[in-house]
Amino acid sequence: MEKFQIQMLLVIFAAVIAQSTSNTNMFGGRCSRRDPNVDACLLRSFNSLMEYMKGGAPELDIEESEPIVIDELSIALGNGPDGYRATFKDIHATGATNMTITNVRSDLETHQFQMTLFGPHISARARYRSSGVLLLVRASGGGDYWGEYDGVKAKVYFRGAPYTRGGRTYLQLRQLKLDFSVRDIQMGVENLQNSNSVLQAALNLFINTNAQELLKEMKPELKRDLADKMSRFLERILEKVPYDDWIVD
Ligand SMILES: *[C@@H]1O[C@H](CO)[C@@H](O)[C@H](O)[C@H]1NC(C)=O
Repeated sequence: MEKFQIQMLLVIFAAVIAQSTSNTNMFGGRCSRRDPNVDACLLRSFNSLMEYMKGGAPELDIEESEPIVIDELSIALGNGPDGYRATFKDIHATGATNMTITNVRSDLETHQFQMTLFGPHISARARYRSSGVLLLVRASGGGDYWGEYDGVKAKVYFRGAPYTRGGRTYLQLRQLKLDFSVRDIQMGVENLQNSNSVLQAALNLFINTNAQELLKEMKPELKRDLADKMSRFLERILEKVPYDDWIVD
């Protein structure tokens, strides 16, 4: 047999073996480093993985990922003792599992990946406490917060470093960064304690008029928290799923 035919046989054999290993079905197939459209392949793979993990994946130690719970976030508007401060607790956000990856850019030489994600709608509920003066009104008190966010776009960047374990190649997460924007925000507060309906209406008008500003104010803390959560999530996957299970030469 000619050398070329032997190589072909080996490739087919390798493909058959690859089909029969368990992890590839999470990704819907492997991507080849030599594929000029490897990013399009990774886009399909990452979306299959997201779909696969939606309801939780016990073999990867991934629990059901709805809702996302954030313990605490706070914002401060204005300085001084009377500056307005609000702290949000027990934030429950749903809808993140409906996000899809719309674009992937990779540099496989340096193991860097950038994903763009889009989510049609995310809802959040939280308890909040505030202090200080807002709109010349003493706005100390607490209550319930609700937020509806439409058109959520996120960018996630991560970089890994390969290492060998038990004869397989794995990636170790070295860095992860994320950013996001929301096209349309509706939110409000209700069930205020130590308050009255006039103040509640004023507060709601204020926060809806300034929704994007308030989000911007909250963003650094929110980004840190979400990046932490996402890092832990990704570390778990990368530890369990060998890198050579999703990318081959
Ligand atoms: C995901 O989207 C579907 C269809 O729009 C919707 O019915 C479902 O409630 C969404 N899931 C979450 C967790 O928001």
